Amino acid sequence: MSNGPRDIAEIADWNRLLDGRVAVVTGGGDGIGGAIARLFAAHGAAVEVAEIDPARAERISRDISAAGGVIRSHVVDVTVDDDVARLADAVLAEHGRVDVLVNNVGDYRPMVAFDESTPQSWQRMYDINLRHVFAVTRAFVCAMIKAGTGSIVNIHSVEGMRGFPRDPVYGAMKAAVAHFTTCLAVDLGRHGIRVNGIGTDLTQTPQVDYLTGYEDVDHLWESWAPVGRVGWPEDQARVALFLASEASGFVTGQNIPVDGGTKAGGGWLFSPRAGRFVNRSKHL
Ligand SMILES: NC(=O)c1ccc[n+]([C@@H]2O[C@H](COP(=O)([O-])OP(=O)(O)OC[C@H]3O[C@@H](n4cnc5c(N)ncnc54)[C@H](O)[C@@H]3O)[C@@H](O)[C@H]2O)c1
Repeated sequence: MSNGPRDIAEIADWNRLLDGRVAVVTGGGDGIGGAIARLFAAHGAAVEVAEIDPARAERISRDISAAGGVIRSHVVDVTVDDDVARLADAVLAEHGRVDVLVNNVGDYRPMVAFDESTPQSWQRMYDINLRHVFAVTRAFVCAMIKAGTGSIVNIHSVEGMRGFPRDPVYGAMKAAVAHFTTCLAVDLGRHGIRVNGIGTDLTQTPQVDYLTGYEDVDHLWESWAPVGRVGWPEDQARVALFLASEASGFVTGQNIPVDGGTKAGGGWLFSPRAGRFVNRSKHL
């Protein structure tokens, strides 16, 4: 079946890209997930946050409600299957459907060099970065298939898209999320469900503090990231909004690095001293 060209004005209001949609955001209490929850609510979604930290869950609900948004927070640990079932039951009982799922929970800590890693450290990386992506997606996918529509956005890492020497197991888990994204997109496209991913890097959050202790070398941001600055959770949220909404209606199976250009730059670093890009530097 082939549809004809669509009217460019079909998205009636670009300021309300998720009007009336139901969006689940895991780890939506703070950091990147928090920015996604706020932006989605501002664009008209009924946001359902899954958050392990009760104080963060409370705060995001209060803030979004105060701004006139629609939100409920669920204090759940997405690595626990019973919690995931409780989350899905609560969301589907309230709305009867879910339009958007953002799998955002993940953590690089503790980083373990591969020659010091153990079955326990592998399991921890699996549980916090990959297993729950399967579990939460599985919990909502049947409702999406039944409705014949949905958008899944998986937040992983640029470390799943390039070599990450400091913890290869973490890099492998993130790469698995990226490839799960691609595979699931092909599987579910015919049901009207799109699946895309974001390869995050250099984004200032409670988990990763890129600024403290680096105040005296702020000028080196032009070396560390082609765009020359740290990233903010809102930088990630805007791309998540695009992927979640009909603005990306013909995009699926893609993993977009949202990294200020670090992946594109590969091994090239700008040297302010030399005034040019270098790939072997004694001093920047
Ligand atoms: N910040 C970066 O630069 C960066 C870089 C690469 C990848 N990422 C990825 O981006 C995602 C978000 O990272 P962030 O920096 O915003 O993290 P963060 O730790 O600052 O925020 C994560 C949120 O998830 C909640 N959470 C943690 N474990 C949970 C669980 N088991 N169940 C429910 N909620 C839970 C936390 O309380 C917190 O509110 C992660 O997948 C992370 O691996 C971030």
